Amino acid sequence: MLFADDLTQRLEEDPAIRSHMPSFSLHAPDVWSLDLRADWEGVGPICVRPTELEDHAALHAFVTQGLGEQSRFLFAPYPLDERLDATIRGALEATCRREQLTFNAMQEDRVVGHFFLWEFTEPIPELGIAVADEFQGNKLGHLFMNVLIAAAQASGKRKVELTTHPTNEAGFHLYSKMGFSDVGDKTITLGDGSQRSEREMKLDFNSGC
Ligand SMILES: CC(C)(COP(=O)(O)OP(=O)(O)OC[C@H]1O[C@@H](n2cnc3c(N)ncnc32)[C@H](O)[C@@H]1OP(=O)(O)O)[C@@H](O)C(=O)NCCC(=O)NCCS
Repeated sequence: MLFADDLTQRLEEDPAIRSHMPSFSLHAPDVWSLDLRADWEGVGPICVRPTELEDHAALHAFVTQGLGEQSRFLFAPYPLDERLDATIRGALEATCRREQLTFNAMQEDRVVGHFFLWEFTEPIPELGIAVADEFQGNKLGHLFMNVLIAAAQASGKRKVELTTHPTNEAGFHLYSKMGFSDVGDKTITLGDGSQRSEREMKLDFNSGC
C-alpha cells in the first residue's frame, strides 16, 4: 500500500488520534515529503514534516528547553554539553542524505515533537520519539508512532527496534499498544557516550506470515 494511503488509514482507525484530530490534511507522495497538518486537541495547529537543516535552532531549543530534566533523561540521543550543536547538525545532515528519517512536529517555528528512524539504510531501523513536556499526554505519541511505523513499512523494512528505560511506563505502554514486543535487556550507548541497560522492544512486520 502507498505510504499516504496506509498512514491515512492508520490515523482514521486509531481512536486516540481521532479524538484529538477530528480532521487533517495529508500530503505524502513518499516518506521524505510528508506534510501533515491538523488542529490538535490540547496542543493547537501543528505541522508534521521531515526535519530541515534550518531547524537547527528550533531543535536545540526543543532539547534544552522543550524537554525537562526527566524527559531528557529518558530521551538521550543528544548530549547536553559542548557536543550538542555538532550532534544536532549531524542528525539534520543525515536526514538530508537520507541515511536517517527524522521528523519534527512544528507549531509555527517551535518544535513540539521530534521523532525518527535512525540507521534508515539498514533493514532494521532504530526508533526514537519525544514530545515537549508541555504537550505530553495529548496522544501525540500515538500520531508519531503511526507515522514511523507506516514509513518503515512503506520503505520495506523488516522490523523496527527501540529501547526504553525500565522506568518509562508511558513509553512502554505506548510501544506495547503499537504492537512492539519486549525482547529483553540491552546495553545501549547514549548521545553523551555513557552506557546503560534498557528494555529492548521490536515490531516485526513479518510475524504471523
Ligand atoms: C513517551 C512519550 C513519547 C509518549 O508520548 P505522549 O504524547 O505523551 O503519549 P500519548 O498521550 O500518545 O500516550 C501515552 C499513553 O501512555 C499512558 N500512560 C501515561 N503514563 C503512564 C504510566 N505511568 N503508566 C502506564 N501508562 C501510562 C497513557 O494513558 C497513554 O495511553 P492510552 O492512550 O492507552 O491511555 C512522551 O511522553 C515523551 O516524550 N516522554 C519523554 C521522553 C521519552 O520518554 N521518550 C521516549 C524514550 S524511549
